[in-house]
Amino acid sequence: MAKNPRIFPIPITNPVIEGYCLNHSSALPPELYEIEKYTQENILAHRMLSNHIQAHFLISISKMIHPQKILEIGTFTGYSAVCLAQGLQRNGKLITIEKQSQFVQIAQKFFNQYNYSNIHIIQGDGIESVQQLQEKFDLIYLDADKERYIEYVDLLLPLLNENAWLLVDNTLWKGLVSEEAKEPVTKKLQEFNDYLTTLHPAFFYTLLPIRDGITLITKK
Ligand SMILES: C[S@@+](CC[C@H](N)C(=O)[O-])C[C@H]1O[C@@H](n2cnc3c(N)ncnc32)[C@H](O)[C@@H]1O
Repeated sequence: MAKNPRIFPIPITNPVIEGYCLNHSSALPPELYEIEKYTQENILAHRMLSNHIQAHFLISISKMIHPQKILEIGTFTGYSAVCLAQGLQRNGKLITIEKQSQFVQIAQKFFNQYNYSNIHIIQGDGIESVQQLQEKFDLIYLDADKERYIEYVDLLLPLLNENAWLLVDNTLWKGLVSEEAKEPVTKKLQEFNDYLTTLHPAFFYTLLPIRDGITLITKK
């Protein structure tokens, strides 16, 4: 039997079902539609933006945890930071790390425009910036530098407060992780997913098939 041609990217969730879910979910905060519109119209790499289902997921998780401190690695144009900020405590803060100055400027403009004074951007390399952090967090979202996820997780797990969660994006990599890897990044993500199975049993982790796959890790 002829093999099906590869459709790239492979939709992990049935688009019809995803549309139905969105039609039966709240509207997102209006600034998210503005950031999305700007990103799609002006940024070549706009596919890096989270989609609406992921926005709902991030907002819901943040509201459930109601964190005092959030850390994000991979700001891009600020979309996911604004999602995560929805659940922050009144006096809470979100630190987001981005290495590209172009994206730092765009995200900062949106944070100013929409009064997210509780979001602070660190411009720099994710690993180097995380190594300098002296505080712990209630929620961490890792969404950058996919090929170094193992290094990040080793650095980030000790930064989790009690009952905190680490979320890691793109862990299904368009479903390619379930096949023989053809690209280095797929191989790295497979290694990362396998690495989690060797984590200390004190950690509980779940890989969910939401958008491009998102792994949730916490201490038991
Ligand atoms: C997938 S995008 C993040 C998307 C964003 N979280 C969202 O959903 O709106 C990844 C971002 O990480 C940044 N990045 C890549 N490598 C990095 C590194 N080593 N340190 C910091 N940021 C990095 C990229 O410039 C890009 O803006």
